Amino acid sequence: MKIIIAKNYEEMSQKAAEIFEDAIQKNPKIVLGLATGSTPVGMYEHLAEAHAKRGLDFSGVQSFNLDEYVSLAPEHPQSYHYFMNENLFSKVNIQKENTHFPAYNEEKPEESGARYDEAIEEAGGIDLQVLGIGQNGHIAFNEPAEQLSVATGLVTLTQSTIAANSRFFDRVEDVPKQAISSGMGTILKARKIVILASGADKKDAVAKLLDGTKVTTQWPVTLTLLHPDVTLIVDEAAAGK
Ligand code: GLP
Repeated sequence: MKIIIAKNYEEMSQKAAEIFEDAIQKNPKIVLGLATGSTPVGMYEHLAEAHAKRGLDFSGVQSFNLDEYVSLAPEHPQSYHYFMNENLFSKVNIQKENTHFPAYNEEKPEESGARYDEAIEEAGGIDLQVLGIGQNGHIAFNEPAEQLSVATGLVTLTQSTIAANSRFFDRVEDVPKQAISSGMGTILKARKIVILASGADKKDAVAKLLDGTKVTTQWPVTLTLLHPDVTLIVDEAAAGK
């Protein structure tokens, strides 16, 4: 794991955006794995700026988002569809049909997500994946547990994630309790992974990565220690410095 310690959120975002900009320039048909949450917002801002100022071209780029809440319509301001549109898609020239999200299958809930992994394979696999980290070490919505799913599917959020994500909703009761999340196998198949973490509330999860000696499903992000090409970009607060 390559580790970059940035001074602050801004520097973390800048460094992450540089990696993405460079990768898009080298491969205009790149398949990106994208994340939501507050962490990648700054990186998306930089990429939108790269498009506006330097003409960074997203017209051939495909994207697969990590997750989506089950009970929110795509137009809901807290849905991840809406988030991506607001923070990136509406600001660059990505083609809407090239952007993908895992979908809930109402008729066969247990099959939700199955088609998603196939679609990723058909697109040639994810070349570059960005990940944020939940305070409890979750990635996408793979919550700490004795067993983690390999494939994309339906997940139930933990109370701690519901509490953490309630800052985006009027009331904690409004936070969806279920989501469709990329599985651990889906994530770890990406050719390159960039993990971002900012702020002291990510310190415990980041410490496990910095230690680098053990993996555990109780801190799902530690499974990325097994991946051959991961860059961790953290700010000083998240690094515990
Ligand atoms: C959500 C998302 C994760 C994200 C996490 C961290 O739970 N499903 O993909 O990494 O939040 O969010 P934040 O970046 O706001 O701390």
